[in-house]
Amino acid sequence: MCSLLVFESIPNTRSGQRERERESRREGKSGESRMENTAEEEVAVMSGGAIGGGETVVCVTGAGGYIASWLVKILLSKGYTVHGTVREPSDKKNEHLKNLENSEKLVLFKADLLNYGELYSAIVGCSGVFHVASPVPPGSVPNPEKELVEPAVDGTLNVLKASEAAEVKKIVFVSSAAAICMTPNPPENNFYDEECWSDTEYCRVTENWYCLSKTLAEKRALECAKERGLELVTVCPTFNLGPMLQNSVNASSLFLVKLLRGEKDTVANAVHGIVDVRDVAEALVLVYEKQEASGRYLCNAHCVRTCELVDILKRMYPNYKYPKEYTASSHERYLSSKKLQNLGWHFRPLEETLADSVESFRGHGLLE
Ligand SMILES: NC(=O)c1ccc[n+]([C@@H]2O[C@H](COP(=O)([O-])OP(=O)(O)OC[C@H]3O[C@@H](n4cnc5c(N)ncnc54)[C@H](OP(=O)(O)O)[C@@H]3O)[C@@H](O)[C@H]2O)c1
Repeated sequence: MCSLLVFESIPNTRSGQRERERESRREGKSGESRMENTAEEEVAVMSGGAIGGGETVVCVTGAGGYIASWLVKILLSKGYTVHGTVREPSDKKNEHLKNLENSEKLVLFKADLLNYGELYSAIVGCSGVFHVASPVPPGSVPNPEKELVEPAVDGTLNVLKASEAAEVKKIVFVSSAAAICMTPNPPENNFYDEECWSDTEYCRVTENWYCLSKTLAEKRALECAKERGLELVTVCPTFNLGPMLQNSVNASSLFLVKLLRGEKDTVANAVHGIVDVRDVAEALVLVYEKQEASGRYLCNAHCVRTCELVDILKRMYPNYKYPKEYTASSHERYLSSKKLQNLGWHFRPLEETLADSVESFRGHGLLE
């Protein structure tokens, strides 16, 4: 039987929480009877007995998303207990989480990024937090400040605030290469590293709202962590490809789906930084577990032009429709992951990422 548990937000205070933990211990409750506990008791058990027993409990925000699902899978396989936040636990799009191995160690909490109380309920009792959730729309949105920037920035500050209140030891924040590369003044030879930041004014002027949301969120997170003395590491992945665990297609996978479906005859011949979603999830765990990890980490594996990407795909899958023409693009960025590799990070060959993506898309019926 799948024992994935789901909790709505529990109004909580730290003193109330501690009292419940004490109460729970007095009554001799333990993890074994979790399925019969009420939601409040559950949080108390998780934050008391389980941690005391040497088990590590971590929170993953936006657990049902593309990257977060792989992260949850890896964490569960390593024996972590995971508090996963989702906006709507009953939504079918989160169903895949039930099928993960060790899903009995995954507890789902209903939490919106703009609801501090909901986030606190998920984070209390955790020694680590992986803040992954942020809006990643596949196209433009009518009100980007409200729909993109606000949840990214205020949501991140809520996560940090809740982590501080819950005395979390380490926070890993998923930023993006979008917070690094969007600038009118590129570095020499377009070679970007962790020193580079996207220019927020330039993001606004060029209406790159997603880049703006990620840049502001990461900047504010680093400032807030410094002010409050929180241990925060940020990871900035490039474009993620690779198999999907979830059933609904996410924005970065959609790019490859459209390329394979030949939806456009002409495409821009830009240079793309590409990284496998599984390698990103491994990177997040690596920076969490390595004590020496600090600051920002760019997470990129391959830099390829669209025409090179299409040539590789054509060799592997000659029968799909592909773009016929390319337009010149000034979008040329080379990104180094040296800092992450020095920490022990490895990545897959591009061909493996593409093959596993295509197989996954076929399995989801996206290429028919
Ligand atoms: N995929 C990439 O190429 C890529 C590259 C670099 C960085 N990133 C970053 O990686 C993270 C995950 O992206 P992804 O590609 O895995 O996208 P995804 O599958 O769309 O996941 C985004 C997650 O954020 C959640 N979310 C959005 N707004 C929220 C809100 N207001 N409250 C609570 N949850 C909210 C979504 O929940 P719902 O399911 O309820 O909408 C979803 O679970 C993001 O921070 C993104 O910026 C992605």
